[in-house]
Amino acid sequence: MSDPEGFRIAVLISGGGTNLQAIIDAVRDGSIPGTITRVISNRPGAGGLERAARAGIATEVIDHRIFSSRPDYDRALAERLDTAQPDLIVLAGFMRILGDAFVGRFLGRLINIHPSLLPAYRGLHTHERALEAGERHHGCSVHYVIPELDAGPVIAQAAVAIQSGETADTLARRVQAMEHRLYPEVVRWIAEGRVALDGDRVRQDGQYPPVPPCLTEATADAS
Ligand code: GRF
Repeated sequence: MSDPEGFRIAVLISGGGTNLQAIIDAVRDGSIPGTITRVISNRPGAGGLERAARAGIATEVIDHRIFSSRPDYDRALAERLDTAQPDLIVLAGFMRILGDAFVGRFLGRLINIHPSLLPAYRGLHTHERALEAGERHHGCSVHYVIPELDAGPVIAQAAVAIQSGETADTLARRVQAMEHRLYPEVVRWIAEGRVALDGDRVRQDGQYPPVPPCLTEATADAS
């Protein structure tokens, strides 16, 4: 029997959920052929929970503070996800490091967006670090999650040219605007079966691109 919900997406958040909103909007306008079946936050007050509720999506809070260890938390999260049976788990500002067992269980179904042009600037404070290093470009990357932090195979990126007088705040805003274009696009590709993880490589439309596709502000505006 075919599943009326089609491709099932779970989104994990910790904060405001602007990327979640971009994905909600893309599902609603039909660009992503699927359904967001669950939004889970590790923080009770996360703004993204309200966005999900407004869109009629089931939400859950699994508060990390009530678990005594990281593996316990990961197990509880994995159990909840198993009941939602997602085809794809989208980390959208989920500020928890997930352990090896969790990542292994969902390998190939777990993606993240990171605010840098990986492999540059893994970790935190990416905008400040890119500015301090005098980079000419910065951006964001969507990648499959592997146990090593921010190190999984990159599916696609979006770049912005750093302008004179740019501050970490202006850069963060410009990169986030690109995140909101890039993330729904990548979710769409996966939902359409055009992108998958194959071993440690990303297969895209039957090919293994030597470098990930990269959206720019100009190409995004043209689309
Ligand atoms: C994004 O900027 C993303 O790069 C990072 O966390 C932020 C989440 O923002 N992983 P939001 O909650 O989607 O607004």
